[in-house]
Order: sequence, then C-alpha cells, then structure tokens
Amino acid sequence: MTNIIKTVNLSKSFFLKKNLNILKKINIEIKKGELVALLGPSGSGKSTFLHMIALLDQPSNGEIFFEGKKTSLMNDVEKDEMRGKKISIVYQQNNLLNDFTSLENVAIAMISSGKNKDFAINTAKKILKKVGLSKRLDHFPNDLSVGEQQRVAIARAAINKPQLILADEPTGSLDQSTAKEIFNLFLKFKSQNRSIIYATHNRELVDKADYKLKIIDGNIRRSNE
Ligand SMILES: Nc1ncnc2c1ncn2[C@@H]1O[C@H](COP(=O)(O)OP(=O)(O)OP(=O)(O)O)[C@@H](O)[C@H]1O
Ligand SMILES: [Mg+2]
Repeated sequence: MTNIIKTVNLSKSFFLKKNLNILKKINIEIKKGELVALLGPSGSGKSTFLHMIALLDQPSNGEIFFEGKKTSLMNDVEKDEMRGKKISIVYQQNNLLNDFTSLENVAIAMISSGKNKDFAINTAKKILKKVGLSKRLDHFPNDLSVGEQQRVAIARAAINKPQLILADEPTGSLDQSTAKEIFNLFLKFKSQNRSIIYATHNRELVDKADYKLKIIDGNIRRSNE
C-alpha cells in the first residue's frame, strides 16, 4: 500500500439560491512520503478540498479512500479516531482553544489520543521549541501574535505524528525565515514517509514541493513545473 489518499470522482457542490459546483469529479492519488503544494485562486476550493480529505466535510459525490479504505463507510466514531491518530489539519483560521495556553492546546491533542499527561506535556514542550515558541508556553491564544497562533496550530497538528498533515495556508502570517523553519518540520515528516498537502501562495515554498496540484475551474491538475 503506497497510497495514503485516493479520490474517485470526488465532487462538492454548495446550494445557495443556485447550485455551485466547486469541485468536479476529482481523481487524484497521494502517495506516502509525498509533499504536495495545493494551489488555486481564492475561492477555487482549496479549503473545501482539504476539509473533505480530513473527513470533516461530506463529499456531494464520489469517494475518498484513506490507505485503501473507503471513508464513506466509516461512521463518525471511526472518523474521529482517524483524525485523532492518522490525519491532522491546520486550519486556515485560528482554531485554538481560547481558554487553554499554548502548551495545553498542543498537549491536549496527545492526551485525547490516549497518551499519558506528563509524556504529552513533555512532547508538547519539545515540539513548541521546534516552532520557536519555548518562551510562549503559558500564553493564551489571545496573547499571541497571529503567526505565533499559527505555529501553535502546526505544533498541535504534528504532535501525534499523523500519517497525513493537511495544512491550509499554514505560513500565511509568517515571515520568510519562520516559514522556512515550519517547512523544515514538513520535510522531516516527509523523511519519515508521512505525507503533507499544504495550500499556500508562498512562491518559494511552492517550489519546494514534490509536485503541485492546481485547482482550476473545479478540476485539479497535477504539475511538476
Ligand atoms: N458552506 C458553503 N456554502 C456555500 N458556498 C460555500 C460554502 N463554503 C464555501 N463556499 C464557496 O466555495 C468556494 C470555495 O471555497 P474555499 O473556502 O474552498 O476556497 P479557497 O480556495 O480555500 O479560497 P481562499 O484562498 O480564499 O482560502 C467559494 O466560492 C465559497 O464561497
Ligand atoms: Mg481557503
């Protein structure tokens, strides 16, 4: 099994007065260890696509296979478990828990996957150090800059070492050198045969992907250039 994700005629429409066909019969395969940049203009469907792959949103039509398994057959409990252990998403908008510190926001992801609390706290400290936030462990989200919040969200997504990380413009508010640090985390994940799909407009980071997926008029095209 080398595929982590395969979609078959994956489609998504929204109905708002009239039918909006955002994604039309998408057929793609993402292999283990692939680092993929997801491109497309604003409103083209990048977040929609990532949310469906994260099993947070239902396709209108078609199927998503995760490690060869039909996800349409999974119930909500199974999907939650997948998201806890195998798939992580970094949302485009900050999605941290406001009443918890940076350290707690990251550690909770590990505690809720069943790990021991002290181990989770220690692991969270290490990963927050990697994203440059050792001095912000006790800050609540509202007392962090937007870029710092993004980095906490990335640390939270990475702590359980998921097979697949979906990152929706994870470096949107970061300066170039911090963005590169984050990207190094992605490269490390890739070296462990994990897969990453990241939506970004950052040209430099786009060029570091193994390949690009471009959403154009509801279709996804793969490009190596
Ligand atoms: N719940 C919804 N109901 C109706 N339309 C929606 C809904 N969610 C998204 N859309 C529409 O679907 C399209 C795709 O949205 P999406 O958020 O996936 O775009 P995006 O490529 O992530 O854009 P951006 O680069 O601005 O983040 C947009 O035109 C949006 O208005
Ligand atoms: Mg988006």
